[in-house]
Amino acid sequence: MEVVIYRTYEEISMASAAVVADVINSKPNMVLGLATGSTPLGLYTELIRMHKEEGLDFSHVSTFNLDEYVGLSPDHPQSYHYFMHENLFKHINIEPQNVHVPSGTTSNYHAFCQWYENRIEECGGIDLQVLGIGSDGHIAFNEPGSSLGSRTRIKTLSKETIDDNARFFDKREDVPIYAITMGVGTVLEARKLILLANGANKAKAITDAIENPVSSMCTASALQLHPDSTLFLDTDAASQLKMREYYEWIQAKKPGAPASS
Ligand code: PGA
Repeated sequence: MEVVIYRTYEEISMASAAVVADVINSKPNMVLGLATGSTPLGLYTELIRMHKEEGLDFSHVSTFNLDEYVGLSPDHPQSYHYFMHENLFKHINIEPQNVHVPSGTTSNYHAFCQWYENRIEECGGIDLQVLGIGSDGHIAFNEPGSSLGSRTRIKTLSKETIDDNARFFDKREDVPIYAITMGVGTVLEARKLILLANGANKAKAITDAIENPVSSMCTASALQLHPDSTLFLDTDAASQLKMREYYEWIQAKKPGAPASS
């Protein structure tokens, strides 16, 4: 588990985009796991810039999103289908048939969840999964208490998540209470994980994820079990870490780090 602390949100966005671009450039038909929410917006803006200005090529990339609200159709402005289309897909050369976002309106959720899991496998598994973190420590919509072995399924959102996400809706009552989400077990099977977090409201969840025991009460702590996970944090999100100086020391002394560090 690698912890990298940056001064600003912009630096997190640039650094995480560089990781995504590296994987795409080394494996043009890579499978990319994507997240929604405010946090990855800067990363997506930078990927769009790289596509337009540097020719970053998505034509053979497949994507799988982590989650979707139950009951919102793809054209609903708060659906994650809509979010992804507006903030990434319509700006890059991805093939529509290579894009996967869980369905919020299927008539058979159980069958859909199984299909989604099978589809990830058919595509060769996720090479790189982008993650955010909820203030309650969730990854995707795996709320506290979710099994660390869970697979794609319907989850009931926690009150904290509904409060956090109410800002995107006209009123709190409009926030769906169910979501379809990849499980923690699904996420852990990705070959590489990157988790992005900024802002003081993520500081406790980040500390639980990195420095407290692995627990279903903070599903992001499952990253401790993954062989290749990196957390990109700003100083606010990192502000409660006890070992912060050590993480900064590791980065400064990394082979290849600038001599002046
Ligand atoms: P946010 O959401 O990026 O909007 O803070 C993160 C999450 O809930 O995973």
